[in-house]
Amino acid sequence: MPATITSIAHYLPPDIYTNDYFATYLETNNEWIMDRTGIAERRFAKEGGTSDLIVPAAKECIEKRGLALSDIDCVIVATVTPDHMFPSTAALVQHKLGLPKAWGFDISAACSGFLFAIVTACKLVEAGGAKRVLLCGADKMSSILNFNDRSQAILFGDGAGVCLIEMSNDDSLGLVDQVLQIDGYGGKYLNQVAGGSMNPASHETVDKKQHYIFQDGQPVFRAAVKGMADVSAEIMERNNLKSDDVAWLVPHQANLRIIAASANRMGLGMDKVMVNINKYGNTTAGTIPICLSEWYQNGKIKKGDNLVLSSFGAGFTWGAALLKWNMND
Ligand code: UT7
Repeated sequence: MPATITSIAHYLPPDIYTNDYFATYLETNNEWIMDRTGIAERRFAKEGGTSDLIVPAAKECIEKRGLALSDIDCVIVATVTPDHMFPSTAALVQHKLGLPKAWGFDISAACSGFLFAIVTACKLVEAGGAKRVLLCGADKMSSILNFNDRSQAILFGDGAGVCLIEMSNDDSLGLVDQVLQIDGYGGKYLNQVAGGSMNPASHETVDKKQHYIFQDGQPVFRAAVKGMADVSAEIMERNNLKSDDVAWLVPHQANLRIIAASANRMGLGMDKVMVNINKYGNTTAGTIPICLSEWYQNGKIKKGDNLVLSSFGAGFTWGAALLKWNMND
């Protein structure tokens, strides 16, 4: 019997920043940003850490399922913007929610964080290591963004998606298959240089702005187009899925052009692709669960639907998963 999502919710901070906001102080414009990325707006949290994005979504998620706080026995947080290097953000979420019986941990896989974490959570539940996992994908990207660098400031946003992972009540529904990959050769193209054990924080690292995101966009773009399309096609092939069999592609939202390339390789029209990058930008580990939550809330995912989750991110990390949806309308 597979494990599956049994409840889902998301949270986005209320403050919206349009492309025109950046154009007031950077050499950029709405047309460039829309053409190159598909992003029109993003949300930035004014205060708090990533755990504060997670908590409202987590409360809603648990409430919707009608569970007691003591029913949650594990918390997994996928993030690259933990509240602190340690303790884990999972521990802070456990404490803020007051979960009396949970253990848990963080997963660092950048934009593939939620994908790697849902596979981890499902396998943990299937193996009997936990019964109900509170699975969170969240990032406060504004905490590591260089707002004076036009090549990165416009790309990212803050947000959280949270779901519950439990055993499925139907053999045929839940997480069916996954293709996951990691390759550290890509590390040099997308990273945060300082703040870890290699380059601990110092005046010098701060002066050099090494606590912000570093991204060499073009090599990442080329690798993402190929990587995401390859694994998305592979998961279809392995599971004998034709394009008509796929209800939705649920792609990581980094760039509309990368998303379109994956859809094209899968033979899917854009009407079968979840896209909200226009509203929220790249929320890193948040993108996939926020999409799932929004689409489910709007009644656009039905029980039995084949969903292909697909991502590419820093590491490089990338992968795809086949999820047969198991929640009623
Ligand atoms: O989510 C994790 C994984 N990350 C990704 O998947 C991101 C992958 N990379 C990308 O999505 C794209 O590379 C970007 C959106 C980051 C950049 O788009 P691009 O088409 O690769 O542009 P570019 O970096 O080649 O820059 C083209 C030009 C440059 O000017 P010159 O050298 O041609 O004069 C940039 O300086 O555009 C310039 N530029 C901008 N112009 C206006 C860069 N940022 C901006 C901007 N506004 N915001």
